[in-house]
Amino acid sequence: MLKVIDVEKKFGELRALSGVSFKVNKDECLGIIGPNGAGKTTLFNIISGFTKPDRGEVLFRGEKISGKKPSYLVKKGLVRTFQLIKVFRQMSVEENVLTAGGGIEELKAVGLHNKRYEKAQNLSHGELRRLSIALALSTKPKMLMLDEPFSGLSSIESKELERVILSLKGCGIPLVIIEHKLKELFNVVDRVIVLNYGKLIFEGLPEEVIKDKTVIEAYLGGNGVE
Ligand SMILES: Nc1ncnc2c1ncn2[C@@H]1O[C@H](COP(=O)(O)OP(=O)(O)OP(=O)(O)O)[C@@H](O)[C@H]1O
Ligand SMILES: [Mg+2]
Repeated sequence: MLKVIDVEKKFGELRALSGVSFKVNKDECLGIIGPNGAGKTTLFNIISGFTKPDRGEVLFRGEKISGKKPSYLVKKGLVRTFQLIKVFRQMSVEENVLTAGGGIEELKAVGLHNKRYEKAQNLSHGELRRLSIALALSTKPKMLMLDEPFSGLSSIESKELERVILSLKGCGIPLVIIEHKLKELFNVVDRVIVLNYGKLIFEGLPEEVIKDKTVIEAYLGGNGVE
């Protein structure tokens, strides 16, 4: 589905990513974890066309996409959400998805069809997050990338989002999810990669990652999964 090959990105002297390679398989949900500043969002920006890599390649469904524009990639079915929620707050929930080319199906997929006439600004944080996912779904993605979807959500809101993500998985949409809330993340992902100072330091199953010494030292020490 997605292949990232030896990607490097520098910001001045700072090496935000170096030699990062991994794959996302068809029907897979992959988690990306690692400390603040590890390069996770930079990696998303490169894959989704918002940033150009200095070196390396990204292939999506066999096509070389590194250097292509986000609008082109969305047409190809590669879609991401942002760490900060981007919706039109003055518009209703339904108007938001219509603007993105979607409709009631996308609202049903995130459990917001009952709120379709509500103004987006009246939604709770968890509902706004799900609306942002409905907007992404409205572009009919072949792969969906979510940047910290669980951040700021209450435990009830997180459970709702977990259900939405699992149902998207059930529909066969491959997902890539950046997240610090590991308990929630590990309930939905099949596999995890760990970034630390721009390097990939681990790739494996959630149950393996929590036992990995290097990962514990770099990250999990201060962010355990109870
Ligand atoms: N446009 C930019 N210009 C300069 N430096 C940047 C830019 N974008 C990111 N960086 C730096 O690159 C590093 C990686 O940042 P990035 O946002 O990818 O981290 P992250 O893993 O997503 O962190 P967080 O978990 O806090 O979201 C950081 O040191 C950051 O300050
Ligand atoms: Mg980030």
